[in-house]
Amino acid sequence: MFTNLRNATKEEVDAIIKGYSENAGELTNHLISHLELLKGEKGGFTIDRYEHSLQAATLAYEDGKDEEYIVCALLHDMGDILAPFNHGEAIATILKPFISEENYWMLKHHTTFQGYYFWDKLGQNKNARDKYINEPYYAHTVEFCDKYDSAAFDPAYKSKSIEFFKPMIHNVVSNLNHKGFMLADND
Ligand SMILES: [Fe+2]
Ligand SMILES: [Fe+2]
Repeated sequence: MFTNLRNATKEEVDAIIKGYSENAGELTNHLISHLELLKGEKGGFTIDRYEHSLQAATLAYEDGKDEEYIVCALLHDMGDILAPFNHGEAIATILKPFISEENYWMLKHHTTFQGYYFWDKLGQNKNARDKYINEPYYAHTVEFCDKYDSAAFDPAYKSKSIEFFKPMIHNVVSNLNHKGFMLADND
């Protein structure tokens, strides 16, 4: 047994890495608990942000998007609790080890792209997203905000429940292979 990490054997390090993969169930529950903090105050919106999240994910599901995309739609505003001024970056960072580069970029920048639908009403530049027009994931992010984020404020819409999405979250956060444990820190 090591008392200093530098003395750990290969077997001990392997066990640590294996432990990370096996904790996917726990991580899934933590993500859901945190998402549930969005329940409650509507803050001027037509539905609370928890319902907004379920609705965005359900719209993506109904459109035939893949599991990873649906999970990104479900969790896209989760960072709002701890990072109200950069919630896109927060969730992008949390999911980075498990998702594709395009979905990472989409989550990180969705806040600016979402501005297209209302920033003019605040006297701000609604076209702020234009600075990214030559970026490879520009269209991917426009589509997300157009079809699933700005569109998910309908109080009459019947969304799937969190139980429906739970296995999808589990599958996504079990997938460390995508980028790999060590690569999670890379841009
Ligand atoms: Fe957002
Ligand atoms: Fe949103």
